[in-house]
Amino acid sequence: MDLGLADRVYLVTGGSKGLGFATARALVGDGARVVLSSRSQDNVDAAVAELGEGAIGVAGDNADSGLAERMVAAARTRFGRIDGLLISVGGPPPGGVLETGEQAWQDAFSSVFLGTLRLVRRVSDELTEGGAIGLVLGTSVREPFPNLAISNGLRPGLAMVGKTVAKELGARGIRVVSLLPGAVNTERTAQILTNPSALAEREAMIPLRRIAEPEEFGRVAAFALSPAASYLTGCVITVDGGATTTL
Ligand SMILES: NC(=O)c1ccc[n+]([C@@H]2O[C@H](COP(=O)([O-])OP(=O)(O)OC[C@H]3O[C@@H](n4cnc5c(N)ncnc54)[C@H](OP(=O)(O)O)[C@@H]3O)[C@@H](O)[C@H]2O)c1
Repeated sequence: MDLGLADRVYLVTGGSKGLGFATARALVGDGARVVLSSRSQDNVDAAVAELGEGAIGVAGDNADSGLAERMVAAARTRFGRIDGLLISVGGPPPGGVLETGEQAWQDAFSSVFLGTLRLVRRVSDELTEGGAIGLVLGTSVREPFPNLAISNGLRPGLAMVGKTVAKELGARGIRVVSLLPGAVNTERTAQILTNPSALAEREAMIPLRRIAEPEEFGRVAAFALSPAASYLTGCVITVDGGATTTL
């Protein structure tokens, strides 16, 4: 199947590693071009070097209110068009509700929630018919992850933001999809499942009996952003090997 990605241009935040990078790689692999971002210039440079000609990078924190403008400007200057946006960002720190302090909630709200709103608002101004926005959330939209109170608190709200803005943008032919990874083999997962027994326990509970590789997520996200997914909007796509216990 031709995804129709050739020459399209996507902005990918949190794009130097993990799920964002896997999506950027899948997009570029199918002929798209990307502007990727993350906080560390070194990480951005390494990711761009790995992706080659189809990628450029911008260093910036999703909590920074100027990030969207800088990514838009970079895309316009280098590629002359913008067709979509994938928002990924570093996950909030682990912890339960009772032991997580207010500052940690505010920091996560700023990068994960407000950062997403700002990017969606700014980049949707640039998109035209066929444009697409993907939000990288997590299966905590549907059921809580153990010991990840902040993620469990913020992601369901963002999924509903995605649903809401999908309706607002639908008349312009712009789609919005939320992606719900379960457990994927990235640095984030290594920080949460710190010992082999925790990983083995998690894998035993997944119907496919293993966590995902990042490219398994990246391919789904690239499809969801592509013209091939032209009737997909206002929905959540779960990429969890069957781990979520509800539909
Ligand atoms: N991996 C999983 O199994 C899984 C499951 C469910 C949900 N998720 C969620 O999916 C998202 C991505 O996870 P991941 O596994 O890809 O994480 P990861 O491997 O830690 O990669 C995170 C990426 O985001 C960048 N980043 C971190 N904080 C940022 C910030 N404030 N602003 C901009 N960029 C930032 C990092 O680069 P810099 O350090 O250079 O900024 C890196 O490129 C997270 O929100 C996570 O909670 C992941």
